[in-house]
Amino acid sequence: MSRVTVIGAGYVGLVTAACMAEMGHQVTGMDIDQAKVERLRAGHMPIWEPGLAELMEANRERLSFTSDPTEAYRDGEFIFICVDTPPTYSGDADLSRIWQVIANLPPEDGTRILVTKSTVPVGTGAAIRAELAAKGYRHIDYCSNPEFLREGTAVHDFMNPDRVVVGADDSAICERVGTLYQSLDAPIIQTDVASAEMIKYASNAFLATKISFINEIANVCEATGADVRTVAHGMGLDKRIGPQFLQAGIGYGGSCFPKDVSALKQLAGNSGYHFQLLTAVIEVNELQKRRVIGKLKRHLGDELRGRRIALLGLAFKPNTDDIREASSIVLASRLLAEGAVVVAYDPVAMEGVRGLLPSVTLCSSADQALQDADACVLVTEWAELVGLDWAKARAVMASPVIIDGRNALDAGRLRALGFTYEGIGVGNPL
Ligand code: UDX
Repeated sequence: MSRVTVIGAGYVGLVTAACMAEMGHQVTGMDIDQAKVERLRAGHMPIWEPGLAELMEANRERLSFTSDPTEAYRDGEFIFICVDTPPTYSGDADLSRIWQVIANLPPEDGTRILVTKSTVPVGTGAAIRAELAAKGYRHIDYCSNPEFLREGTAVHDFMNPDRVVVGADDSAICERVGTLYQSLDAPIIQTDVASAEMIKYASNAFLATKISFINEIANVCEATGADVRTVAHGMGLDKRIGPQFLQAGIGYGGSCFPKDVSALKQLAGNSGYHFQLLTAVIEVNELQKRRVIGKLKRHLGDELRGRRIALLGLAFKPNTDDIREASSIVLASRLLAEGAVVVAYDPVAMEGVRGLLPSVTLCSSADQALQDADACVLVTEWAELVGLDWAKARAVMASPVIIDGRNALDAGRLRALGFTYEGIGVGNPL
């Protein structure tokens, strides 16, 4: 058992805290947001993440929360930095919250290892170590330990990782941090700090590249009559390619891919290298979100003004309440700009949209959104939406047009019900 302090009670911090406690460690979670800490102490979850509340409840005796840095650092042998690093206007990562953590570290009082889980540009670890040295903090060692958690399955991903990456300049530090994870059945990769930082960026950028690649293939499939689902299946069976992240759709979103791809591109640019591939990955993704407009026009005519379009799903993917960089936001904005009446429903993620796009009418059910709609777009493939009573939907819609932005619906059945169905790259007979 080790004593672990986790700084930041967001997605990564809370999952790290709960899972570290589950692995038997004594954990103190710290966040500067006092109200959030109060809610956590009372057993309320500030985020929606399947399985997390249950895991926290089960490990209550090994898990405490505070907003007081002195209390948080007092006992921590390992101090995990899990604060967010949002993009700045320039596309670089904003590291101000990390520097705040460094500023609050206690002066000489026992050895500790500072472990960065937040995604940071390559070179940040070196800068942190230089800062620690400048402060004379020789008692604090440093390790990079990036996370690879997907929202919606973060607890499972933490407890069942494909690999654990620990990067430090001394293998003894890697060993000590690796020991925290010894109860997990996963390879522990020891690297230098810069390589650990790069593994995180390169992994996310590669997955985003895979998605943009299959989306471009989908667009060519549409022009040539091929079916991208069959193509992806045929490609994915090649072990060198693999089947994952080859699902064509209306673009990737979320708190990680858009931010990390842009930060890696920026990082390369700052070092004098033009990362051309990532420029294309970003552009393809932006265009992919907008292609739905063309599809709607093909079925409804060029004039979308006054047409009622129902967006089903707003979250950037199912099983999360997160709408950061979600394709739904760009799509809704474009439709509003065309003069369309946009109505929307999401099983969980509606609050954020209310503030962001006040002109979108939010409905309390999918049925309500579909009432009198001229077309509907499946934006997020929630099981609840895929499993709708589509015969009933057909009866209440003003015109039966479905754009399936995730290729998640049964096209044959919908056509048999009288719908005009169009997916993404699926050879679209009208
Ligand atoms: C991602 C990484 O998977 C994770 O390792 C990293 O730590 C954080 O970023 P997350 O953002 O939670 O996780 O979502 P993910 O499940 O990877 O999906 C990202 C986006 O890509 C979603 O918008 C999803 O709809 C889209 N996607 C994913 C596709 O369009 N096609 C695919 O085949 C896979």
